[in-house]
Amino acid sequence: MAAPWMLDELAHAGPEHLDPAFVAGYDRKQGYPDFTEDVAVLRAHGLTKESTVVDLGAGSGRFALAAAAEFGRVIAVDVSPAMLDVLRSRTALCNVEYVRAGFLSYEHAGQPADAVYTRNALHQLPDFWKAVALDRIARILRPGGILRVHDLIYDFTPAEADEVFGRWLAGAATDPAEGYTAEDYAEHIRTEHSTFRWLFEPMLEVAGFEVVTAEFRSSVYGAYTCVKR
Ligand SMILES: C[S@@+](CC[C@H](N)C(=O)[O-])C[C@H]1O[C@@H](n2cnc3c(N)ncnc32)[C@H](O)[C@@H]1O
Repeated sequence: MAAPWMLDELAHAGPEHLDPAFVAGYDRKQGYPDFTEDVAVLRAHGLTKESTVVDLGAGSGRFALAAAAEFGRVIAVDVSPAMLDVLRSRTALCNVEYVRAGFLSYEHAGQPADAVYTRNALHQLPDFWKAVALDRIARILRPGGILRVHDLIYDFTPAEADEVFGRWLAGAATDPAEGYTAEDYAEHIRTEHSTFRWLFEPMLEVAGFEVVTAEFRSSVYGAYTCVKR
């Protein structure tokens, strides 16, 4: 029985991620990312065909598909039934298991994971819950396990927000089918829970992670590789 104060992850998942029509156009909108570097990072940290990787907030399963070719057990986790439908059809013949659950409800079974991957999903959670999620992620991993995170994280001070967001929105797509528009970004800023880098990194530390690399693009997109102590 969930505690009465537990967050409703589905209610915070972003209504678009639950909408089959949005999900059908999701890959085109997000622009077919290349996961070569992510896979290379995990391999460089010792992951092999014997390794277990958990993808939290796996979405349409593109990373899970790439990971399945390299690692032994891939578990794709998402709260959205619509996303999981796409993920399941994409990875049907692969070594990908899928679980309908969230950062706060996924229960890992079997050997501790060698890596947890999460891309563009943690920002769905307010900061208190993000810290809880990072603590739960640390418990899924073996000591020395890797956390690879991509997310919209703000690498600036509050006083710089106008300037950074102005630049970000100016570079947005104009066709909503082809990418994220200025209105999409504005809605993200207003209603979702991207946090500041200088708040996120202490959360990683408290959860028991050492940050090995942190790279930022446009002061809003962060990519982290962390090792569980
Ligand atoms: C922007 S999509 C990113 C999907 C995928 N990781 C990618 O890079 O394309 C965000 C995903 O997070 C999922 N999500 C939202 N809240 C979640 C939660 N609390 N736990 C797990 N997944 C969640 C959504 O259903 C959606 O599939």
